[in-house]
Parts: sequence; C-alpha cells; structure tokens
Amino acid sequence: MTTTLKDLTLKIWRQKGPNDAGRFETYDIPEISDEASFLEMLDILNERLIESGLEAIVFDHDCREGICGTCSLMIDGHAHGPQRGTATCQLHMRQFTSGDTIVIEPFRATSFPIIKDLMVDRAAFDRIVEVGGFISAATGGAPDGNLIPVPKPVADASMDAAACIGCGACVAACPNGAASLFTGAKLAHLNLLPQGQAERFKRAEAMVDTMDEYFGSCTNHGECEAACPKSISIDVIALMNADYRKAKFKNRKALSRT
Ligand code: FES
Repeated sequence: MTTTLKDLTLKIWRQKGPNDAGRFETYDIPEISDEASFLEMLDILNERLIESGLEAIVFDHDCREGICGTCSLMIDGHAHGPQRGTATCQLHMRQFTSGDTIVIEPFRATSFPIIKDLMVDRAAFDRIVEVGGFISAATGGAPDGNLIPVPKPVADASMDAAACIGCGACVAACPNGAASLFTGAKLAHLNLLPQGQAERFKRAEAMVDTMDEYFGSCTNHGECEAACPKSISIDVIALMNADYRKAKFKNRKALSRT
C-alpha cells in the first residue's frame, strides 16, 4: 500500500495567555502522511517549529484513543472537525486533500476561557460533576453486579449516556454555550439505573442548578448532538428536564418532612 503525502496550510489560533487578544498565524506544512492522525500532524508541526527556534503550539491531549475528552479543537468551524462521531485525536489526515487550508481554533465558549493557544479551561464541567455525578455507597466488599437485575434497554440507554467523554464539543457547538447535552448525559447514565435511584432527584436539582450558574440556556438547536464525538442523543436533555421538574416537587416535599 502506498502512502500519500499531502501539502497543507494551517491557520492556527495563537494566544499567549488568557488576557492576550490572540490572532491567527499561518503555517505551511508539506509532506504529511495520509496515515497521520490530526494530533500527529500537530506534533510534526511542533517539532519543526522547535527545530527553527520557535515556540510550540499548545494543545490539549491525553489518551489519543477517543476516551479522555481532553483533545478539543475547532477544525474548519466544526468541533472535532468534519468527520461525524469522531474526536479530534481519532481524525486522520486522509480526511483532507493536498492543497487544503485548515483553520484550527480552540473551543470557543465564555465558560471555557482560553489558557494558551488551543488549550481551554473546562473546569466548569467539573463543578457540575462535583455536585452529583456519582453514587454514594457504603464501603465494604464490592457487591456482585448481577444481584440487581437491569432490563437490557435500560442498561443500553445508560451505557449510551455514559459514553460522554466530557470534551465540551456540545458547549462549543451550541449558539447559547449551553451544557445541557453534557449534564443530561451525566444524569441519565446514573438516573436510569437502580443504583442511581437513592440520590436521583437530589442529583438532578444540584447538577442542573450548577449548570445554570456557568452555562447558557438550551433552546433546542440540536447542534450539540451533531457535534458530539460519541453521538449522544438529545433525548438525554428531555430526561434531564423531566427529572429536574420532578425534583423541584420531590425535594421540597422531602425537606418539609424534616
Ligand atoms: S486525546 Fe483523549 S479523547 Fe482525544
């Protein structure tokens, strides 16, 4: 099999820090293999910049397997690039044509301030998870998973929601900068399962209220579902809204009994 080499031009957002205005810089990058991943292409560019005595471009990455959610680039105006259901680290250069100019920006959202170049601070997601993205369990030996029967469609729906890698593409793609797909996914994967019932409504109220503190409001554009590298359905937003409404009654009732 022959490897095709491509000559590309990159327009990359460079920003020295959170308070710098930032600007696009243009780099010609010849002879990039079809088989290189998008992040490998940036690695090659960085090696060439360092060899020339220039500063490397800062971008986030960790697993490079579509699991951790740290890679987060806006590529030609699409969160994670042009290939649907694919994280930046899984995108390959065969998706591009020799002679292309590729525009690379950080995820743009008020709640994700830019740290440097293409790296943003997504700690606002952590604030949502901290208030309810877990199940409290007494310590002791791990119970046998099969002791609690879970219907297959429920387990599947929960697993689909649990596929969220917390990358922030949903927020970056949303015209309102809303985090409803992320919060809905984190709620659905716990609230659908029997193990999640004890804290279901406490969790729903706390996570949605925290989401509202940091992010914009959802007006059903659906851009989040299209941008999600794990193709999470906006059905999780409907589940979140239903649980939040119920939580407002149930939690108040529970409080009035104490
Ligand atoms: S680097 Fe982990 S999902 Fe892309």
